[in-house]
Amino acid sequence: MNADMSRPPSISELAELRLSRRTAMAGGLAAAAAAFFGAPAPDAAAGVLESTGHAGGHGGGHGGGRPLLGFPAVAPSTADAVVLPPGYRYQVLYPWGHPIVPSGPAFAEDASNTAEDQARQAGDHHDGMWFFPLRDRRSGLLCVNHEATTENLLHTDGRAAWSPEKTAKSMAAHGVSVIQVEEDRDGGWQVAESRFARRITMTTPIEITGPAAKHSLMRTSADPEGVRVLGTLNNCASGPTPWDTYLTCEETINKYFYYGEQPPPAGSVEERYGIGSESPYPWHTTESRFDMRTEPNEFNRFGWVVEVDPFDPESTPKKRTALGRMEHENAVVVRGRRGEAVVYMGDDTQFDYFYKFVGAEPIAKTRRAGRSPLDEGTLYVARFDEDGSGRWLPLVHGEPGLTVADGFADQAEVLIHTRLAADAVGATPMDRPEWCTVQPGTGAVYFTCTNNTARTETVDAANPRLNNRFGHIMKIDENGNPSAVRFDWDIFLLAGDEASGATVPPDQAFGSPDGLWFDAVGRLWILTDGTQPQVDGANQNNQMLVADTRRGDIRRFLVGPPRCEITGITATPDGRSLFVNIQHPGDTGTPENPRASSSWPDYSPTGRPRSATIVITREDGGVVGA
Ligand code: FEO
Ligand code: CA
Ligand code: CA
Repeated sequence: MNADMSRPPSISELAELRLSRRTAMAGGLAAAAAAFFGAPAPDAAAGVLESTGHAGGHGGGHGGGRPLLGFPAVAPSTADAVVLPPGYRYQVLYPWGHPIVPSGPAFAEDASNTAEDQARQAGDHHDGMWFFPLRDRRSGLLCVNHEATTENLLHTDGRAAWSPEKTAKSMAAHGVSVIQVEEDRDGGWQVAESRFARRITMTTPIEITGPAAKHSLMRTSADPEGVRVLGTLNNCASGPTPWDTYLTCEETINKYFYYGEQPPPAGSVEERYGIGSESPYPWHTTESRFDMRTEPNEFNRFGWVVEVDPFDPESTPKKRTALGRMEHENAVVVRGRRGEAVVYMGDDTQFDYFYKFVGAEPIAKTRRAGRSPLDEGTLYVARFDEDGSGRWLPLVHGEPGLTVADGFADQAEVLIHTRLAADAVGATPMDRPEWCTVQPGTGAVYFTCTNNTARTETVDAANPRLNNRFGHIMKIDENGNPSAVRFDWDIFLLAGDEASGATVPPDQAFGSPDGLWFDAVGRLWILTDGTQPQVDGANQNNQMLVADTRRGDIRRFLVGPPRCEITGITATPDGRSLFVNIQHPGDTGTPENPRASSSWPDYSPTGRPRSATIVITREDGGVVGA
């Protein structure tokens, strides 16, 4: 993959960079919009887009000079429906409660499935995912994250009379699904019987690897050696590796641990990692490992990137501690100059940071030696300077700010307390970094800053809006060298409506960009989660847009049902089937009125809304988006 990663950016790309930076930094946001989204770049036809394999998807041809977008934009929507352009259709493939194989336990629409059933069914809150094609190319393994749960809809009587069984069902609805999916002759998709199918939940044994394994802060009464943890938690976004494994990323871990009636002291590491006095999940009432008063270190064993081998159903997933501990969003792996793994990652919290990991040795060498390319290397955090340049700052024990005197006993502590280390070296606090993605052909890294309404006092060039309700998308250019310690950066777009200073045409207004993915030919898919601009006096539902970054074209492709976020996207290698996740539709439903805000996708009068993986295809069988 990434044979072309070393290609320097074209003249037109550099010109685009400088122009948009100047206008954005001068406050000329409307001018930036006109410059970028107004007219095609004069030499857009010169841009050649090449597949990068996993980083941007699989092979699929060249964009050449042709426009990448071939569908009419859909209008904003508040309907209880998935809205697509004309000529497109979708199928609900894998909703919450669907058995992982057809012979598994059937979904009960009154939510009466047991915890044991749930452990062999789709979990809740589908998020990041990836399609790994099998040899026949008409089937593949689909890894799907189950980030969280809507407890009021997960159990027939919701959160009432909390019990060990409810904790067990909630824990079984978190984690990852590995399922086999197959396409039939009519272009429909099904979940198939498969020896690969499995659920990874909050009770699955997971190995701790890398520098933090065995550290005293990783030891608990159940695991005195600090090498094995039960479960993976709040699996948000994800990423494939070049060696065909799946990275699932632990995000909002603080919600599951109970600290006590009083919150942690101001300035404590627990406070820095978001622990408060409330625990929205009542797991600690029946499982003592979630009670920090008796098991303070269990919390340290979550917040990592976890590697899953979908092709070995017996394999133990691994928590890769060299990639740092934070509220991980996704993890994008590319090859560096020496063939080492380079991993880009965001920490999704207000004023948190953007990171990359650079492996110590080439991927091939470590794998030949039976070691992981993700266990040894350097973790860096980004500093965005006002002049449009930037620095990757190494988080290495012993460096200034990261010594024993600074409170870091060793490298393991630098990683377990990654956020404190990044604070100490002067990283740039961002407006909630969510997904990142690497552009095929150029290696440019784009990442979303979803929003930040807590930015009330100061702005900087990389986070230029006070009360940033609608978010923005950043672009990092490492001049073709993913191992570089310097980079150039720019703001790709400011989301929102006209009044907020957005650099997007008003008829394509959107807010809170979260998911972000370059497909194989360079279409940039933008998935939203959060505040949207209004339409007819109501907030639009969350949506998915596509940008042709070379031509400055952006179009709304999909709008979801009420209360959902759109997150998780992957495609078959030919680009003709696009998998997308609709997460937590209608999550204001209650046990008395489960369909209070949505009945999607079943529209059953006795059912309830369900998170689901859908498959989008074209009626004429063409490439989705083209
Ligand atoms: Fe799970 Fe930051 O979204
Ligand atoms: Ca997200
Ligand atoms: Ca989000």
